[in-house]
Amino acid sequence: MAIVRVGFLELWVRDLERSLEFYQGLLGLRLERREGHVAYLRGYEELEWSLKLTQAPFPAVRALGFKVDSEGLEQGLAWARQEGLPHRLESDWGRPEILRLQDPFGYPLAFYFRAEKLPRVLQNYHEYRGPGLLRLDHLNVFSPEVAKATRYYQEALGFRLSEYTEDEEGRLWASWLHRKGNVHDIAFTNGEGPRLHHFAYWLPDAMAILRAADILAGAMRTDQIERGPGRHGISNAMFLYLRDPDGHRVELYTSDYLTVDPDHPPLRWSLSDPRRQTLWGHRTPRSWFLEGSPFLDLEGRPIPTRASGLEGIPEHVI
Ligand SMILES: [Fe+2]
Repeated sequence: MAIVRVGFLELWVRDLERSLEFYQGLLGLRLERREGHVAYLRGYEELEWSLKLTQAPFPAVRALGFKVDSEGLEQGLAWARQEGLPHRLESDWGRPEILRLQDPFGYPLAFYFRAEKLPRVLQNYHEYRGPGLLRLDHLNVFSPEVAKATRYYQEALGFRLSEYTEDEEGRLWASWLHRKGNVHDIAFTNGEGPRLHHFAYWLPDAMAILRAADILAGAMRTDQIERGPGRHGISNAMFLYLRDPDGHRVELYTSDYLTVDPDHPPLRWSLSDPRRQTLWGHRTPRSWFLEGSPFLDLEGRPIPTRASGLEGIPEHVI
């Protein structure tokens, strides 16, 4: 399938006002449309909305959205029919055709091509708020079968592997896969799944990451800072992980690297190398290995999860 890049995320939240106070008020995402209990937001570089929040009875993730090229929807439909995947066509604000389906691992994917373009605001610097989130960069999902999912996403969906974590027995514990030419559009992380681990927005530089931490601290919201700021070994990116008012995990991310060469070799990390998670050796909190957001099926019901088949103490899981 001709997937171009990660495109959007659709979250269920319990209190839309509280979520907007976080995503718009503190992080500064632009609120582009509000329809009752639904809100659409984007970063300053984006020409299409990238985050949809819907007020709902419990927190969950309704869709992992990917932009495809003009042939992508037909290819996606053919794939769904061939594999017998639950699927349907929907429309949304500014997006007349979205193919929603549940993939063989239970991930609720959504593919779209046509999208109404929003005005360019990248250089409207006087309108920037918060740390200045620019664009959705990637999704990271828990999987109880990382090796199988990684292979499938490469073979069926055309993703390319940029980095991976392996133990001494050659078992795959995590993988980073891309379409757009940086380290990832989606990553698979060993653990109870399918669940969302986090989604990440790209920031202009490391100072913006520090500014985000200052903003959370100034607002007396340090309890929502889960991990960082720091630099990952994997991806080389600077990061800060936050938990939104419903516990959804959002990463602020910058400064990874290009992977556009068709023969770009994947980078292997040993499970026993502590620099892979944080290059500087900081320990990662336990919640980061265990907690995630449930997915919804096409009917809006939580998708059942399975425990990982790989054994290991939590600190060695990812
Ligand atoms: Fe990430």
